[in-house]
Amino acid sequence: MKILVVGSGGREHAISKKLLESDAVESVFCAPGNDGMLGDGIKTCAISENDAVALIEFAKEKAVNWVIVGPEVPLLAGLVDDFEKAGIKAFGPSQKAALIEGSKDFAKQFMKKYDIPTAGSESFTDYEEAYLYLQQKGVPIVIKADGLAAGKGVVVAFDMEEAIVALKDMLLDSKFGAAATKVVIEDFLDGEEFSLMAFVRGAKVYPMAIAQDHKRAYEGDKGPNTGGMGAYSPVPHISQTIVDEAIQEILLPAAKGMVAEGRSFSGILYAGLIVTEDGPKVIEFNARFGDPETQVVLPRLKSDFAKVIDALLHDQEPILEWEEAGVTLGVVLASAGYPDAYAKGKEITGLQEVQAEVFHAGTKRAEEGDAYLSNGGRVLLVSATADSITAAQEQLYKEMKKLDNPDFFYRMDIGTKAVK
Ligand code: AMP
Ligand code: GLY
Repeated sequence: MKILVVGSGGREHAISKKLLESDAVESVFCAPGNDGMLGDGIKTCAISENDAVALIEFAKEKAVNWVIVGPEVPLLAGLVDDFEKAGIKAFGPSQKAALIEGSKDFAKQFMKKYDIPTAGSESFTDYEEAYLYLQQKGVPIVIKADGLAAGKGVVVAFDMEEAIVALKDMLLDSKFGAAATKVVIEDFLDGEEFSLMAFVRGAKVYPMAIAQDHKRAYEGDKGPNTGGMGAYSPVPHISQTIVDEAIQEILLPAAKGMVAEGRSFSGILYAGLIVTEDGPKVIEFNARFGDPETQVVLPRLKSDFAKVIDALLHDQEPILEWEEAGVTLGVVLASAGYPDAYAKGKEITGLQEVQAEVFHAGTKRAEEGDAYLSNGGRVLLVSATADSITAAQEQLYKEMKKLDNPDFFYRMDIGTKAVK
């Protein structure tokens, strides 16, 4: 098979690399990909993930068997529909199905309708009305931009002033543009979070091993929300009972509900969950692989990944077998300043000395020599697999140390919640 992966991050690096492990795969193209993928035999091509016309032309020219679309922006723009219209099979949600991720308001209404456990909420477009609701609810409270905001459109406010600033930023000052002409104000939930991703095919759900992301920028879950600063899989302190409950009460009804709504798809359903006293509840749904979760979950898949996707795209049962032993931990190296403004083009010193698996995200080869330069907020992820979280941390942070450089930062406590 020849396969096209759309996207350029660490997630797409992990997806492409896993596909190449398959005996059934001849070539993996990644558009636009990143320079760090080349070393793994992935063929990158300089087409934007948002250029549907050029992507279709490329897919036809290379005669690819099918396409996987990684990131949410092209999914919400309808890239899977575009491929399908052009007669090319694509793994991922249609534009209609991607709305479960693209509109938090839609997702909340959907959950209410199908009785899927989540925090209570109301949606607003009017600042005054939202302000009154806020006063009535009090803090802590969560304010969310309705649309896509790269994981940054969520403010968990512990004081009223902070909540009002968030509301103003979104509804009055257009800080998130069109993504926040509507906001969801959600009850604050307390508990341990985990990510449960599943392959879905219509109402059928095939869960993956669970992972835990670290969304805040700094240690101890401080600082602003980011796309994710590190992850590990599996999550030993989340019991199988909780996972099973989440599959039964959340993933299955969600997949079924999407079919009932005429939004059926073959792709990934990602539930961001929080374990409350009343069981797991949904924080967010995504309709794609998580980043950085994918970088720690996919390497643990023992079955042939390409065959799994191929089966799903041909309406057949996939074979899924996961590594049970040990744990995989991944730490993100980010540009200083991320998730706010940051510089690009900084040399990633020490990279050649790192003896661990590296998934590149925002990297670029220097014009001369073999150095890599930064080219994004999240630069790369380093991962390690070991018998225990502490062993993986020890192994990994020894390698991360080689990347110490004031132009970058990383969290020192990825996985620590699992060892407390
Ligand atoms: P989201 O982008 O919706 O996943 O939210 C980002 C982060 O904000 C989550 O990982 C949680 O840590 C936090 N968060 C979101 N919604 C809630 C909530 N209702 N209660 C508590 N924390 C939340
Ligand atoms: N790591 C969270 C996400 O992919 O949205």
